[in-house]
Amino acid sequence: MRQVKTLGLLGTGVIGGGWAARALHFGIDVIAADLKPEMEAWIRGAVANAEPALARLTSAPLPPKGKLSFTTDLNAMAAKVDFIQENIPEQLPLKQRVLAEVSRHAPADVVIASSTSGLMPSDLQKDMLAPERLIVGHPFNPVYLLPLVELVGGARTSPQAIEAAKRFYTYIGMHALKVRKEIPGHLTDRLQEALWREILHMVNDGVATTGELDESIIYGPGLRWAAMGTNQIYHLAGGEPGMRHMLHQFGPCLKWPWTKLEAPELTEQLIDRMVDGTAAQAAGRSIRELERLRDDYLVAIQQVLRQFDIGAGGTLKALETRLFNDAAAKAAARSAASDAPLRLVETAVRPEWIDYNGHMTDSRYFQVFGDAVDVLLRRLGIDEAYRAAGQSPYTAETHVSYLGEVGQNESIYVTTQVLDVDAKRFRLFHRLHRSRDDVVAATAEQMWLHVDTRAGKTVPMPGKVLAALAALAALHAGLPRPAEAGRGISMQRD
Ligand SMILES: NC(=O)c1ccc[n+]([C@@H]2O[C@H](COP(=O)([O-])OP(=O)(O)OC[C@H]3O[C@@H](n4cnc5c(N)ncnc54)[C@H](O)[C@@H]3O)[C@@H](O)[C@H]2O)c1
Repeated sequence: MRQVKTLGLLGTGVIGGGWAARALHFGIDVIAADLKPEMEAWIRGAVANAEPALARLTSAPLPPKGKLSFTTDLNAMAAKVDFIQENIPEQLPLKQRVLAEVSRHAPADVVIASSTSGLMPSDLQKDMLAPERLIVGHPFNPVYLLPLVELVGGARTSPQAIEAAKRFYTYIGMHALKVRKEIPGHLTDRLQEALWREILHMVNDGVATTGELDESIIYGPGLRWAAMGTNQIYHLAGGEPGMRHMLHQFGPCLKWPWTKLEAPELTEQLIDRMVDGTAAQAAGRSIRELERLRDDYLVAIQQVLRQFDIGAGGTLKALETRLFNDAAAKAAARSAASDAPLRLVETAVRPEWIDYNGHMTDSRYFQVFGDAVDVLLRRLGIDEAYRAAGQSPYTAETHVSYLGEVGQNESIYVTTQVLDVDAKRFRLFHRLHRSRDDVVAATAEQMWLHVDTRAGKTVPMPGKVLAALAALAALHAGLPRPAEAGRGISMQRD
């Protein structure tokens, strides 16, 4: 199966537009195909609409954005792309017909994924050529912000197609959840459907308004669900004995008329599966530990989920690690044996980085220079494992000079020169350039100390790190000494 550089979209409505925005943002070209020519303007609008939110998702270094093109010729699209995501209306005969047709124009190593909310892949692949590359890749609206995608194979789907789809979806920042068995509605829509049916009953019976029912979710369970599913939450609800006690205590309620949906018999086998499943999810953590974790994310949900490496925050963190690693590898390849300053970060000035004068605000310069150092450290082998082992470089001093202006959405990049190195310290000099004219808009000089984080004192760097830094300093020794290096702040008087 192919490495995906170009994504083909079949159907460019709500879901097609969401796929386009996500893929383009992470550097994938997109060829969007829809029968209606007017969908071109629609999908371009949808992508533009998604951009401000996407821009805030991560400040890790991104590859250049992908390019979007549009066609009404579905077969021409199929012949040019590395992966096809189908998003046409949820009608089985229509999907079967279009997938069969497109499969005759897409090379056999191109995965064809359907966004279907509930149709079975075995039915979809029925008339296709090379049906083994058909999978269901069911996303959630808005596709550009929600990481979940359910991956379902049909009777004839190959494991290679599933793995290739998983790789691609992960690359564009998603959480690919493999569904073991194809069933109508997959997993998530079955759960959503159960809630939905009950909502309809209650509205129909005049028990509550839709607003009251939404309140019953958004002020309570909805907050918990962002990072722990119902099973893990109920495991906590059982107190120290966890799920077993929970089932014992609340099991009888399953026979009470709390819902119009019929619950399954609570057999010994089901109890064991529930207890074992939640114990595995807890992964050795006690109820107390999980409670602390749960309370923490309830206080500072969404943005903070990333710090706990849980739920969608874990997906974002993994994405950022990949983006920083890619940037480090790119920088290493570009500057291997070159004596030019290292070009470590390329990014664009996000709307929320702008101050009241319309320019990038002070603290964002620190952030961008920090991102450059992050890439440099990864290149030196200083990563999470290194820090977890108890050592890390700390900034001792930073001196920023603001020389030019950068405005909203402007492309910028940072170059870094290693000025000096000794056993415990290194001194860096960064320049922040505007991409359009290479003008240096700011410089930063930094002193870094290598610290034993547990002892809280400076210690010599390991030989390998020191040697890599010294090699860079030697390469950069021939460069002109930056005029701003070593400068203090003064006010000249006449
Ligand atoms: N909307 C959601 O929340 C959601 C979520 C997950 C999955 N899905 C699934 O995604 C798919 C698309 O849903 P949507 O909400 O984007 O629908 P939509 O109606 O917004 O878009 C469908 C698009 O397909 C185009 N189309 C119709 N027939 C076509 C054909 N033969 N060839 C090419 N294009 C054709 C239409 O012009 C339209 O632009 C469905 O299978 C749906 O179940 C929807």
